[in-house]
Amino acid sequence: MEYSKKVMDHFMNPRNMGEIENASGVGTVGNAKCGDIMRIFLDIDPETHIIRDCKFKTFGCGAAVATSSMATELVVGKNINEALQVTNKAVMEALDGLPPVKVHCSLLAEEAIHAALWDYAQKEHITIEGLNPPKDDISEGEEELEEA
Ligand code: FES
Repeated sequence: MEYSKKVMDHFMNPRNMGEIENASGVGTVGNAKCGDIMRIFLDIDPETHIIRDCKFKTFGCGAAVATSSMATELVVGKNINEALQVTNKAVMEALDGLPPVKVHCSLLAEEAIHAALWDYAQKEHITIEGLNPPKDDISEGEEELEEA
């Protein structure tokens, strides 16, 4: 199994690891099959809805750490609607790809961001177009993903 230089870099030197106190939104998702858990913290400007800061805590495999790290870098500076475009595909592309068996790890990053945005929307009493309620366990539906 080959990892790209970028994956190795983000795994060895993760960006934005940690927590944000009094975060505007926090999202936690896990994958019951591999047991990995990811938590994303967002600091969002309530006036502009722009993400000022993003941090992560991931208890998981190297690819999960690398995708969390890259995902935090991709969402900072974006508004909440633009942040929805940070899909697992976008994260994988930014990392120059992941081995097929590790694709599900990137999904954890997408779902954790969505969960944190959902938490923010609940707190602010707003609706984010196209955002669905988060799932705690994303292992369902994983098979289709790996075949796709
Ligand atoms: Fe489960 Fe990577 S093996 S997130």
